[in-house]
Amino acid sequence: MQQPQIRQTLPSKTPLVIAIDGPSGSGKGTIAGYLAAQFNLAHIDSGLIYRQVGLYVMDHHLDPDDLSAKDEEVIKDFITTIDPKTLDADARLRLEKTANVASKLAALDWIRKAVNQWLYAQVDNPPEGVVGYVIDGRDITTAVFPNACAKFYITADEHVRLERRKKETLEVSSHITRNMNERDRRDATRKIDPLTVAVDAFIIDTTHLSIDEACHNASQCVTERCF
Ligand code: C5P
Repeated sequence: MQQPQIRQTLPSKTPLVIAIDGPSGSGKGTIAGYLAAQFNLAHIDSGLIYRQVGLYVMDHHLDPDDLSAKDEEVIKDFITTIDPKTLDADARLRLEKTANVASKLAALDWIRKAVNQWLYAQVDNPPEGVVGYVIDGRDITTAVFPNACAKFYITADEHVRLERRKKETLEVSSHITRNMNERDRRDATRKIDPLTVAVDAFIIDTTHLSIDEACHNASQCVTERCF
């Protein structure tokens, strides 16, 4: 992939947010990383926060299907302690079982609220030098940052998304197929903030696009909307 060129540094003190949603394997993380580098913004993969919570639940032997009021308190406390600098530090975050627990927990209203509070806290208190964010996930354009300056819905055919996921992992591919389909179904049908397309989102279908083409298209949209 071509290295993106850093084109501008934003002048404003109010952080700018570019919001990206899409299902697993759509390419949204790659596009988010590219836009962050190109426009000199920080990138937050919000799925990693849900995965962090999933890992916490597994490490503490809690039942994601039956959390008590006490569990709720400790999990909410844990979310406030998540460090954006080490969001991706644990290799277990990438495991299918972590993603599955994350997706179950992501259906709970109080977890979504706590994660959103965490995201708002980052954007309200950006570290020195950070003038804006690219945030990707499932509800960033619709629920978390509906006023983002540019919004994207990234998608791709199911078989292409599955092949991408299989290439990224050493886990058994039949597990990936079953788990990804199940997660996509759960994420799109849950009652609270399901994955949907925001009315004013740019839709990029990456099925037949190279990484360069997809990133270039997204970058043009950002230039059009935000600068
Ligand atoms: O994007 P990733 O696959 O890492 O996300 C893991 C899970 O976290 C998703 O399957 C989804 O259930 C949840 N998620 C969410 N809202 C977000 C980001 C992720 O519900 N904004």
